[in-house]
Amino acid sequence: MEEVKKKEMHIKLPGKDVTIQVVENIEALITDLSDEDKVPCWADIWPASLGMAKFIWEHLLLTEDDNVIELGAGMGLPGIVCGLKGARVTLSDFNPLALDIAGENARLNSLQAGLLLEDWRTFSSGEKYDWLLASDVMYDPKLNPYLGEIFSNNIAPGGRILVSHPWRKATYEFLQSWREKKYYNEEVFVQEVEMEDTLLPRYRIFIHLLRALS
Ligand SMILES: C[S@@+](CC[C@H](N)C(=O)[O-])C[C@H]1O[C@@H](n2cnc3c(N)ncnc32)[C@H](O)[C@@H]1O
Repeated sequence: MEEVKKKEMHIKLPGKDVTIQVVENIEALITDLSDEDKVPCWADIWPASLGMAKFIWEHLLLTEDDNVIELGAGMGLPGIVCGLKGARVTLSDFNPLALDIAGENARLNSLQAGLLLEDWRTFSSGEKYDWLLASDVMYDPKLNPYLGEIFSNNIAPGGRILVSHPWRKATYEFLQSWREKKYYNEEVFVQEVEMEDTLLPRYRIFIHLLRALS
């Protein structure tokens, strides 16, 4: 495989700049487009992660008592923002290169994040988290039930789940049926984001905040 080149992105949050490396030559990572597991969707920041990062920065109060995991973290932006707000953070993905770069991104922001290499389909960690973050990971109806299992199995008592997406039907429909079955309360927020993209610079990102009904 061609050498992976990285470039820095600077994300401006009110009163804080976050630097995140992403892959510059994504085409070099494309080896087999017919295999969904090999599509390098981890290598860039998706609008949903920017929306979730802004939401976390502006609305969540976190301390070192908060144990956070980001699932399908890719470059790790929302998890890193939780770390900047004071939480303990684990970045998780099934792609080892994504996790390497996400770990470097945490260090670039003076954070030590835990790194967890796990596939949702065989998720074996029994650790419980106060916050589970899922930014633009619920796009495949085949994979969503595995994420639902992780939400149920790996949430600490009183824990919360934060999901972001740019209005994906697969996300919305799965969450609606899952939360009713599992008795979760849900609030939905809309976060406007701007990306450096001349064709599609503005997005409305939907943020679902779920908590278990006690
Ligand atoms: C659309 S990308 C989103 C990346 C990042 N969360 C964001 O919003 O910028 C989907 C992410 O899920 C990860 N992923 C896909 N299938 C997975 C699986 N079966 N187990 C664990 N991670 C997976 C990918 O490697 C990628 O990082």
